[in-house]
Amino acid sequence: MSKVAYMSKLYAPTLKELPAEAEIASHKLSLRAGLIRKSASGMYSFLPLGYRVIKKIEQIVRDEMDAIGCQEVILPIVQPAELWKESGRWDDYGPELARFKDRHEREFCLGPTHEEIITDMVKGEIRSYRNLPFTLYQINMKFRDEVRPRFGLLRGREFNMKDAYSFHTSQEDLQKHYDEQAGAYGRICERLELDYRPVDADSGQIGGDISREFMALADAGEAELVYCDCGYGATTESLGEDFDSTISHTCPQCNKELKLARGIEVSQVFQLGTKYSKVMGLTYQDEDGVDQFPYMGCYGVGISRSMAAVIEQSHDDAGIIWPMSIAPYQIIVIALSTDDDAYNYAESLATQLAVEGFEVVIDDRDERAGVKFADADLVGYPLQIVVGKRGFESGDVEVKIRKTGEKRTVPLDDAVNEVLAILENL
Ligand SMILES: Nc1ncnc2c1ncn2[C@@H]1O[C@H](COP(=O)(O)OP(=O)(O)OP(=O)(O)O)[C@@H](O)[C@H]1O
Ligand SMILES: [Mg+2]
Ligand SMILES: [Zn+2]
Repeated sequence: MSKVAYMSKLYAPTLKELPAEAEIASHKLSLRAGLIRKSASGMYSFLPLGYRVIKKIEQIVRDEMDAIGCQEVILPIVQPAELWKESGRWDDYGPELARFKDRHEREFCLGPTHEEIITDMVKGEIRSYRNLPFTLYQINMKFRDEVRPRFGLLRGREFNMKDAYSFHTSQEDLQKHYDEQAGAYGRICERLELDYRPVDADSGQIGGDISREFMALADAGEAELVYCDCGYGATTESLGEDFDSTISHTCPQCNKELKLARGIEVSQVFQLGTKYSKVMGLTYQDEDGVDQFPYMGCYGVGISRSMAAVIEQSHDDAGIIWPMSIAPYQIIVIALSTDDDAYNYAESLATQLAVEGFEVVIDDRDERAGVKFADADLVGYPLQIVVGKRGFESGDVEVKIRKTGEKRTVPLDDAVNEVLAILENL
């Protein structure tokens, strides 16, 4: 049973003065609402409210991965140079790969992605076709020494990612799992309530040739895409250098006019084929005892970037508007007085809602009503319940739905049921 959290004890500092580099809404709001703090360029600490959101996104992703049979592992962040030399990426990856030496002068890097380390790990362990297929995934920090870290969590240097790697005996089996992953990625976006489009993409540094990206539509997004109601979508980057986005184009699937938009790449699925297994010598024996290279796929979700994408799409002038699925707390009970019967009522209402299974915080601080309302809007709890002395005396409390701004007055003695009914539709 979850307990009620007390705002007076919560480490949730709000910020009045914003750094000039915070240009876009998600960056500004995650600083202002006390979700994150910067430690160095492109590197952030997550404060309690921000980390609650991260953990919820992780759990949604974990859930969807487990549902399609993937198994969770955790791989080292520090990786030996030899593996990257074996794959050829020690040279190919360039300065984005952060390299260093240990005290014995051995070379290492901070993992920007984990194809090498996982291919090496399963090497020697998968002997027979009977061991295949399988998919392993982890939720872990990545480091990429990005040229231009910016926009807060959207383009960091250290960031949270879910990365999964699958191993198969045939292209058909890889295709089947790739489609399952794409399905899971769509469901993840839906559970985050993102307005998104899956698009054909370039495979970039990862390699392989078939790839889709999941784009959260947002003007602040760094990617440009075209899409159509029929389901077709592509990044303009993948359409080639000659693609002219200033003129209109027709859909290659249905001939309607394509829509052009900007987007945030929240996730990507790749078919790697036998690229890594060949170059790193990963083999298994087929039914005839002949050595074969497994087909591989890899699948990444930006956890921290998804958090920023949700804020980018879901906010107003007052602050963040969290979907129920990832709100740091789903309900805030704003107690306007802190030492009387009205307060005692507020506390018992908060407790009853917690008993019903909701995550509830009570604003019990000794602050003006205006400050409490502003902070509740800024952090963006989906449901606010205001308990004031006057309302209490006349027998009611006020409920506000953050998303619509709609306010309802509900009777004190039936508040729990009324609130539960409202929550059912949020
Ligand atoms: N610098 C970053 N900061 C935060 N998240 C990132 C960053 N780079 C990648 N991600 C997230 O990790 C996911 C999987 O990584 P992938 O290798 O596909 O990234 P990428 O295609 O190089 O990203 P981008 O094109 O934006 O640099 C991405 O879809 C994105 O959500
Ligand atoms: Mg990508
Ligand atoms: Zn179309």
